[in-house]
Amino acid sequence: MGVPSAEDVEFGDADKKIIPLDEDDIALLKTYGLGAYNDAIKDLENDLKTISKRVNDLCGIKESDTGLAPPSQWDLTADKQAFQEQQPLQVARCTKIINPGTEDAQYVINVKQIAKFVVGLGNEVAPTDIEEGMRVGVDRNKYFIQLPLPPKIDPSVTMMTVEEKPDVTYGDVGGSKEQIEKLREVVELPLLHPEKFAKLGIDPPKGVLCYGPPGTGKTLLARAVANRTDACFIRVIGSELVQKYVGEGARLVRELFQMARSKKACLIFFDEVDAIGGARFDDGQGGDNEVQRTMLEIVNQLDGFDARGNIKVLMATNRPDTLDPALLRPGRLDRKVEFGLPDLESRTQIFKIHTRSMAVERDIRYELLARLCPNATGAEIHSVCTEAGMFAIRQRRKTVGEKDFLDAINKVIKGYQKFSSTAKYMQYN
Ligand SMILES: Nc1ncnc2c1ncn2[C@@H]1O[C@H](COP(=O)(O)OP(=O)(O)OP(=O)(O)O)[C@@H](O)[C@H]1O
Ligand SMILES: [Mg+2]
Repeated sequence: MGVPSAEDVEFGDADKKIIPLDEDDIALLKTYGLGAYNDAIKDLENDLKTISKRVNDLCGIKESDTGLAPPSQWDLTADKQAFQEQQPLQVARCTKIINPGTEDAQYVINVKQIAKFVVGLGNEVAPTDIEEGMRVGVDRNKYFIQLPLPPKIDPSVTMMTVEEKPDVTYGDVGGSKEQIEKLREVVELPLLHPEKFAKLGIDPPKGVLCYGPPGTGKTLLARAVANRTDACFIRVIGSELVQKYVGEGARLVRELFQMARSKKACLIFFDEVDAIGGARFDDGQGGDNEVQRTMLEIVNQLDGFDARGNIKVLMATNRPDTLDPALLRPGRLDRKVEFGLPDLESRTQIFKIHTRSMAVERDIRYELLARLCPNATGAEIHSVCTEAGMFAIRQRRKTVGEKDFLDAINKVIKGYQKFSSTAKYMQYN
């Protein structure tokens, strides 16, 4: 106890001495309102901050999606001037390196339709940048190598990459829980937890075939996958690979996989694969079929001489029975996932998903609606919702009621029965 405080002096009350807080009390006060793990969390956050700063420093300037600087930093006039000063280069292929790794390394280049030369490097190229078999840019006077070039890939192949993520999520897919689970196991698990597979010593499955009647959500689910994944997503429509000239389709496939291999992780989605994946047959004229050759190139790329790398393949089709058995064998497409007709619960869910963005009355019995459309696909249910909206618009109402839905079911499910493709699908399979 030290000097008496001001109050003590004023009131002269020796018993009511105020005891100043000692260090323990202050420490106790400081813990008020703190959870048990507060300190640990703070430490961890600081750690994260320093580490991420260090990583960013090491990485240098971060590349944007397009590899371009933000438009605010563009200097178009200077760029234009630089372009005018530069000589156009010529494309050549570096076929061989003589004395690689030494001071007097020489490069054999092959300029198409001109000749082969033995040349040196330009001032701005490092010897480590040039490899055998690479495309390079050479100047037109001395044919010195001025620029390493990326492999040539058809622009139409580059265009197949999905840059903009679709806005469909797993939540927009009604039912199909099992299918989603199976697909995610193949697509996400190996990317997120590669160590699980390494520990067991198995290769993760590499390909999935989705099949089922039209309108059951195969493409929809693939879009949801594209939305979720950070890997590069390439979407190919089967018919895009059917080309006019011999060997063109196969070349596209080759370039497609070449591009995919250059990414860290990649997903390729072949939609409507029956356009090219049909079983081989003899057309009776002795000629071989270009489409078949394209399919064989896919077969080769999936499981051929080159390692497939971290490429996962999804395929979707309505007619699995027409596909070539070689395409379907395990090792190429390990998993086959059937998309069946949605059951009652899934149909209810699909109704709810599609009416989520609509102005509907509050107490609509979705389960009853789902009960009224047995054997309907997701696409048909979507159509029912749209038609119900149309009925409401026709009667100039602002919200959609249950009556509209019932009318729409009558129109779509009963009225359009003869267009339903599900029965035909069942016939084939
Ligand atoms: N499970 C589902 N949940 C929600 N909507 C669905 C579902 N299945 C289908 N749909 C609706 O049906 C539409 C068509 O589905 P999708 O394009 O996936 O059919 P598909 O299976 O690819 O058919 P196809 O084999 O003819 O290409 C979707 O845009 C979606 O609105
Ligand atoms: Mg589809």
